[in-house]
Amino acid sequence: MTIEEAVIKVKKTFADAFGGEADAVYFAPGRVNLIGEHVDYNGGHVFPCALTLGTYGAFRKRADKKIRLISANFPENGVEELPAGVFAPLSSDSWTAYVLGVVWAYAGDGYICDTGFDLAIYGTLPGKSGLSSSASLEVLVGTALMDQYGFACGQVRNALLGQKAENKYVGVNCGIMDQFSSAMGKKDHAIFLDCASLSYQHVPLDLGDASLVIVNTNKPHVLADSAYNERRAQCETAFAELKAVRPDLPSLCALTPEEFLEIGSAIKDPDRYRRARHAVMEEARTRCAVAALLGGQLTEFGRLMNASHVSLRDDFEVSCPELDLLASLAWDTEGVIGGRMTGGGFGGCTVNIVRNEAVEGFVKNAGAAYRKEIGYDASFYVLGAGEGARCVG
Ligand code: GLA
Repeated sequence: MTIEEAVIKVKKTFADAFGGEADAVYFAPGRVNLIGEHVDYNGGHVFPCALTLGTYGAFRKRADKKIRLISANFPENGVEELPAGVFAPLSSDSWTAYVLGVVWAYAGDGYICDTGFDLAIYGTLPGKSGLSSSASLEVLVGTALMDQYGFACGQVRNALLGQKAENKYVGVNCGIMDQFSSAMGKKDHAIFLDCASLSYQHVPLDLGDASLVIVNTNKPHVLADSAYNERRAQCETAFAELKAVRPDLPSLCALTPEEFLEIGSAIKDPDRYRRARHAVMEEARTRCAVAALLGGQLTEFGRLMNASHVSLRDDFEVSCPELDLLASLAWDTEGVIGGRMTGGGFGGCTVNIVRNEAVEGFVKNAGAAYRKEIGYDASFYVLGAGEGARCVG
């Protein structure tokens, strides 16, 4: 679906639900992380890119204080009407909580919406795929609020407020990677982001004669949020144990692998030790991977992607049989340069760099092997890096 078609669809959803026309249409993309997994909340570097798929929103301010929402993806829910104002966090997994969470987070910064609004949403990301549909919704709402209410906080602050909404309102203790990628993406570039300082560099995603192929396990990730919060808590405890022997340590990812070998024994639990080892090694891999890409060494980049998967599988334990199968099918395919799980894990997608002449065979053969072993289909997407959040109509 083109941007124009998605804009038409979300405008129609708006007109059918609320009557009349939206004032503007916004878009915020999902993301895929190429390498640097489960390091954003450990003060490390990540290397994601924004996608061309994401969330569209048709927006119009209201004269009163109501907020009315509709999603073209869940038409059966109809219009949901909510009172405007500053909200206490709800415990709800409805998509509407992400919208209210952003309004709430903005209000906490003093950016108070003086009216309510009508908002129709249309998402083009596959649902529950780990490609950050929730971050794209948060960043979309913030982008609309900035534009419509004149809140001049900028996209980096918008990303942080989206993260705050998710942490404190929705209750998932995520890092900054997803919202930052959605807010700050650049066409044909990945983002080398230092999650400790939020300094970043857009790096050309020059894959030569290869493409990015994202494969969705289509496995519904059950309990992923609670396991995510648990991993994060384990990392925090491990960091506290290391800080006891190295008081000036700013974060887990500030350690080099050599330093970790020296002081890692301060971590008293073997699971926690492996979690921390993943964070330290993944940080080192990510820095090397970006240098490799900048130096045109795509094979080395792919090797580091594969090593990242192994570490997420064995040390961080956030993979699952479906992701492991897709990764090993990729590794066994001639012409696949690298492949790994991407995002939080426990389901969702793998990301692969595949030579163009091998894409068709990979889709056919890995698709058939996956169906045979797992019993249902995986979905394959050949996608490029897209532009960050913006007004599109
Ligand atoms: C999820 C979170 C991110 C990040 C990844 C793992 O996508 O939202 O902040 O921690 O998992 O790298």
